[in-house]
Amino acid sequence: MTTSTDLHGKVAFITGAARGIGQGIAEILSERGAILAVCDLDKKDFLNLEKSVSDNGKEIILGSVDVTNQDSIKTFVDKVIDQYGKIDICVPNAGVIGSKGFENRKNFIDEDWESTWGVNVKGVVNTVEAVKGDMISKESGKIVIIASHGGRKPRGVGEKGRGTGQHPYMVSKAAAIQYMHQMAIDLGRYNINVNAVCPGRLWTSIWESIAINHKETNPDYADYSPYEIFLELIKGYMPLGRPQTPHHIGKTVAFLSSDDASKITGQAINVNGGAILN
Ligand SMILES: NC(=O)c1ccc[n+]([C@@H]2O[C@H](COP(=O)([O-])OP(=O)(O)OC[C@H]3O[C@@H](n4cnc5c(N)ncnc54)[C@H](O)[C@@H]3O)[C@@H](O)[C@H]2O)c1
Repeated sequence: MTTSTDLHGKVAFITGAARGIGQGIAEILSERGAILAVCDLDKKDFLNLEKSVSDNGKEIILGSVDVTNQDSIKTFVDKVIDQYGKIDICVPNAGVIGSKGFENRKNFIDEDWESTWGVNVKGVVNTVEAVKGDMISKESGKIVIIASHGGRKPRGVGEKGRGTGQHPYMVSKAAAIQYMHQMAIDLGRYNINVNAVCPGRLWTSIWESIAINHKETNPDYADYSPYEIFLELIKGYMPLGRPQTPHHIGKTVAFLSSDDASKITGQAINVNGGAILN
């Protein structure tokens, strides 16, 4: 029996899929029947995902790709299209919260603006540019950009009177959402749906970095482990009171990639336990 989000026969291209949210999206799309074409900076990091997908008898193709480099993405996309003849689903997921050493700094620096813009905005543009020609020629495609609810609304005022969010990260995610809006308009006539999923808070390396930063800069958290800090930051902020997981994000991506979502385009969907009610 087919499920409502059956993806059998679809080829799904996901960036930054070696761990965290990207891995969770890949696992769900594979479970729903999609063939995976996944990449990350180093394909050697895919050991876990490759094994679990192959053990389940599903297909997977891996690439070492830097999304900030157009040639690097194009080489991988060309290889996938040579092998499977198409890409049905494109999920630009690779993202960074700041530049190297972010967790050890109290304030953001120029390199944080450059790295978040390079990966979270230009990397998304490069990824969509690499697949859109093939989707246009087939008049079919689903693009689901992984943004953030932080890209939709700024955080509240913290100590020192400034917003508590990471400005470069949140601005980059707002730009990714606006790019999604524009592409939904541009590609609608080719039967290509373009949407975004806005995760809330998940325990991945990004939130581990943020929790370590809180531990080092806020004396209230001196006796907490980074994970306990993470849970504290969720209580009182999310009506559902608990974090999301990569599989929760994957299930929303699966829906937006399926025929059930054929009339949805240009939307940014929060998967954030009810935080930020917009
Ligand atoms: N974790 C959260 O709470 C959260 C919340 C909202 C949005 N997001 C977004 O979800 C996405 C995934 O984040 P995550 O939490 O899984 O983080 P993560 O750090 O666990 O995974 C990000 C992946 O992207 C890859 N990557 C980074 N730069 C790259 C580049 N130049 N080229 C190719 N791959 C690159 C990394 O190697 C890594 O595997 C990001 O876009 C992030 O901004 C995360």
